[in-house]
Amino acid sequence: MLSRALRPREARASVAAGHDADATQAFAHDLRAALASQPRRISPKYFYDARGSALFDQICELPEYYPTRTESAILRSRAGEIAAQMGPKAEIVEFGAGSCTKVRVLLDAMQAPARYLPIDISGDHLDAAAAGLRKDYPGLDVQPVAADYTQRLLLPAPVRGAGQRVGFFPGSTIGNFTPAEALHFLRTAAQVLRGGALLLGADLVKDPAVLHAAYNDAQGVTAAFNLNLLVRANQELGCDFDLSQFAHHAFYNAPLQRIEMHLISRCRQKVRVGDEVFEFAEGETLHTENSHKFTIDGLRALAAQAGFAPGPVWTDPGRLFSVHWLHAPQ
Ligand code: TRP
Repeated sequence: MLSRALRPREARASVAAGHDADATQAFAHDLRAALASQPRRISPKYFYDARGSALFDQICELPEYYPTRTESAILRSRAGEIAAQMGPKAEIVEFGAGSCTKVRVLLDAMQAPARYLPIDISGDHLDAAAAGLRKDYPGLDVQPVAADYTQRLLLPAPVRGAGQRVGFFPGSTIGNFTPAEALHFLRTAAQVLRGGALLLGADLVKDPAVLHAAYNDAQGVTAAFNLNLLVRANQELGCDFDLSQFAHHAFYNAPLQRIEMHLISRCRQKVRVGDEVFEFAEGETLHTENSHKFTIDGLRALAAQAGFAPGPVWTDPGRLFSVHWLHAPQ
């Protein structure tokens, strides 16, 4: 059992990744806070350890999960137009870069990219990805930043003589924030990207059946990803979640325009976190993630509210997904 001394109650709510002990304390603190509140809700950032990141990569390959391949197709077919917006010697800052694969199509089209700054909370995953990128782009300056970009955005100063600084936030990760968090993130991004732009991917409102299938894949990868939160809690915090007694549940909440992901307790059960015990009633849920869907106009209005000047928007023929160029004024 973890002692109170090892897991102080005053553990900070969140810290920059890279300090493992602090990160563990933050996870313990946030999990306890989540289980102590009603309804029970935890930040999705805790999905992403090495295994979570690998499972996420698998989600992106699933036949039902259209966003990744649709966004990639948009980026591929519009790479020339996007590169023209970027201009020469631009620098790319990617928020939540993961495996650093999506940026390649941009780098291939860009005129003399100056630098690539991938930010991700999963440091090991990021370093491996950065190494792969350096190998394939020998002239590119790749500087990975292992950090929680929702907390603080401290970036290296722009390189002298470089072109614009372009933020890259693909995958509709913007939809995983609450509307208030999304606005806050965009405001911060507009600040750090001053005089440059943000290239933003946003999933669109559509037939709920298509949405439902995307988050309830036949192979159960999304379920494994959702349950990975409890796997981590057991491994890193010494909790005793019985994985067979929690079910993945994802559904479209139409009035709120979002997919909700929950872990549902299959029975009445007790779970230990440090020296505290929490009870789950049968059917009680832990809300793990939201994935908001947008209309093109809604997204542009949100960006404008955050201080961006919305520019071109690109979408696929089926209007499943959208990619936005948002100018960050000086
Ligand atoms: N942002 C994407 C989405 O909401 C990817 C994603 C984040 C995701 N968390 C997820 C996909 C959980 C499936 C399950 O779709």
